[in-house]
Amino acid sequence: MQPEEFRAAAHELVDWIADFRARVPDLPVRSTVAPGQVRDALATAPPEQPQAFDDLLRDLSDVVVPGLTQVQHPGYFAWFPSNASLASVLGDLASSGLGALGITWQSAPALTEVEEVVTDWLRELTGLSDAWHGAIHDTASTGVLVAMLAARERASGLSETRGGLQAEPAPLVVYTSTQAHSSTPKAVLLAGFGRDNLRMIDVDPATFAMDVDALRRAMADDVAAGRRPAAVVASVGTTGTTAVDDVAAIVEAAREHGAWVHVDAAMAGSAMLLPECRWMLDGVEGADSLGWNPHKWMGTILDTSLLYVRDVEHLVRVMSTNPSYLRSAVDGEVTQYKDWGIPLGRRFRALKLWFHLRLDGAEAIRARLRRDLANAQWLREQAESEPGWQVVAPVPLQTVCLRHIPVVDGAPLEGEVLDEHTLAWCERVNATGRAFVTPAVIGGRWTVRVSIGAEATELADVEELWSLCRAAVVPA
Ligand SMILES: Cc1ncc(COP(=O)(O)O)c(C=O)c1O
Repeated sequence: MQPEEFRAAAHELVDWIADFRARVPDLPVRSTVAPGQVRDALATAPPEQPQAFDDLLRDLSDVVVPGLTQVQHPGYFAWFPSNASLASVLGDLASSGLGALGITWQSAPALTEVEEVVTDWLRELTGLSDAWHGAIHDTASTGVLVAMLAARERASGLSETRGGLQAEPAPLVVYTSTQAHSSTPKAVLLAGFGRDNLRMIDVDPATFAMDVDALRRAMADDVAAGRRPAAVVASVGTTGTTAVDDVAAIVEAAREHGAWVHVDAAMAGSAMLLPECRWMLDGVEGADSLGWNPHKWMGTILDTSLLYVRDVEHLVRVMSTNPSYLRSAVDGEVTQYKDWGIPLGRRFRALKLWFHLRLDGAEAIRARLRRDLANAQWLREQAESEPGWQVVAPVPLQTVCLRHIPVVDGAPLEGEVLDEHTLAWCERVNATGRAFVTPAVIGGRWTVRVSIGAEATELADVEELWSLCRAAVVPA
């Protein structure tokens, strides 16, 4: 494709995207396609000859769009917000159009330095001190894996340069809570600690935050048994209920054993843009790494995940592909992001954040986050004041976990029958196509999570969801 052909097609595509975004509110929120339906609708043979751009656009409209759950829909309340602000979409387009290759500073100096600028901007906007240094990764899952690798190497005195973990005399142990996102156990296993050395610490039954006394006891037991606490992963905003672990207390407990502290704020990190929410990260300055996703609530399109560390020199020692592990991060004059994580080649992801912040501005983003927090409180108040409804967990952020408990034959429903009722009314809400909520097991019973925070969701949409929920608990 030549630049002039690209110009014509790209104009058409941009028009198509703008039209699509305008009609998202009229689409069903949850995709209704059956498994295999998209595949069956597409040609099976790879194209030998160029096809018409219009044919491609038609398939986008007719096959791809129905095959997507519309996470930009104002009635999207499932999993977690996955906003894709149009300003950041422009940055993504610019990134692809520039076709840059980020393997070293030299291969794309601007790619490196814009990333330094935007990670510094977000550090400032979230109230972190300048002791932190950030890089953009694809996801928080990658971020926690990088953190676990760094933790492993710190605890083992760079065992990778000898026999690796396999030659270590004492097992290294990692701690997180039972409410931690599955990416944490996954990272611990991939980093070679082994399931036997992963402790899922109990949580407070009311707040779902890690029980730090239980953490302390688990660490002491491990030390007594000849094992070494290597890392603790604290969650700020758990996936289930947005519970907030006490980072300061965890840092203090970890410090006694020299254990690394990683803070997983994948979803809740966006709230740190609001000074009134920063209490959730109290103590973070004593942690070693912090990951959060602008590609969730804040709204910079996937994949934009931030990983901040304090000791870049250590990270580079662990990750550097240069032969000498003794080489220090400050030896060179420039940042080599290839030595801050796993991949060698990097996309120009920083442009998404750069466009998003420059075109929308932090003030508008903060206003939207505050709107969502207020809408969550509105829904909590409705549920708390309506007989038969229960708000299952505190609502520190934008997620409200609901259960409806009908009274049948004079007794409130419980056990598996209650679970069946919950899953049934959840499905009735989703089947309307007007809203999409996802259930999760919380405290041993199914619960419907309402995760507020799509860019398009206004109070009227939350009001509509609440009406749908109330209608859905009464079987037709
Ligand atoms: C608390 C938490 N941590 C980690 C993740 C994983 O995020 P990612 O999809 O960026 O790997 C999620 C996603 O839901 C999450 O809620």
